[in-house]
Amino acid sequence: MIATGLGEGPAARRVPPPPAATSIVLDCDTGIDDSMAIALGAGSGARFVACTTTHGNVPAATAGRNTVTVLDALGLTDVPVHVGAHRPMAQDLLTAEWVHGQDGLGDAGVAQSSRPVSGDLAPAEIVRLARQHPGELTLVAVGPLTNLGLALLMAPDLPGLVRNVVVMGGAVNTAGNASAVGEANVWHDPEAAQLVVGAAWDLTVVGLEITMRTAMPTVAIARIEASTDPRAQLVARVFQHYLGVYEPIVGERTCVLHDPLAMALALEPDLASYRLVRAGIELRGELSRGQVVADTRGFEPDPTDPTEPGVVRFVDTLDVERFHAMFLDALGA
Ligand code: BDR
Ligand code: CA
Repeated sequence: MIATGLGEGPAARRVPPPPAATSIVLDCDTGIDDSMAIALGAGSGARFVACTTTHGNVPAATAGRNTVTVLDALGLTDVPVHVGAHRPMAQDLLTAEWVHGQDGLGDAGVAQSSRPVSGDLAPAEIVRLARQHPGELTLVAVGPLTNLGLALLMAPDLPGLVRNVVVMGGAVNTAGNASAVGEANVWHDPEAAQLVVGAAWDLTVVGLEITMRTAMPTVAIARIEASTDPRAQLVARVFQHYLGVYEPIVGERTCVLHDPLAMALALEPDLASYRLVRAGIELRGELSRGQVVADTRGFEPDPTDPTEPGVVRFVDTLDVERFHAMFLDALGA
């Protein structure tokens, strides 16, 4: 099945996919679907250079502990984890334990790793790694964008140092999930999101307009639950709580795959087709703060340069079956 993201954009407006990631720095707020994204990456041979964590689903320190726990459970014991921003730039901290469980991993009793995480300086680490590997890193961001925003403030040359950026965030021309029009990762720190959208890098944004089309068939859920593969077993444990959250939304005991889709598109960008669109984040609206406002009118010539500040590559269409197959394959399910 081919799902439509932005809308029925004319094929002529499509642009090539972003480059496939070879080395990833994952910025996350782990988080149930963040865990599923890490599992997808691990099972697809992704090379994680480091993970950095932010406030969002849970406090940043909890996200750090959860990230190291998930990495270790998947055998990625040498991937360093750095905790970063503890709160948004210009609003109060809000977390979402009702979606992800009090422990952020679905309250499934997953034993925490005791491996140390580095404290508090994730944005500096992102900059350091980008300087160490110029032109090589793909930043995959699946939480609020505070760490990336801070890294941009610290190092204005950062956009020229990374290969590309893939963000899960926003809701273009569709309902939000944190407010009527705001998606959680953008809504949790709109100022940081605007810094990311306004930077001169190759930015792909994977929003609710496409991730809400990725609910797994219940037979796929059953395959994950029945699998003896440790990756599938970890996901089957942590996603029970998430299935309960999504059941009333989707109408079946299943869930959508927000963060895993961003990871999948970083690794296999040709799962989707794309359009370049000018976009910005609403920062002042009483009802619309945190909305991604994308100019999809088509009156003006579309942009052609993905690195133009304010230009975003959005998903136009997605091969959902191929994405689900990739996910199941990565889990050994
Ligand atoms: C995003 O918000 C978080 O709850 C999820 O982990 C995902 O990154 C979906 O809006
Ligand atoms: Ca997330």
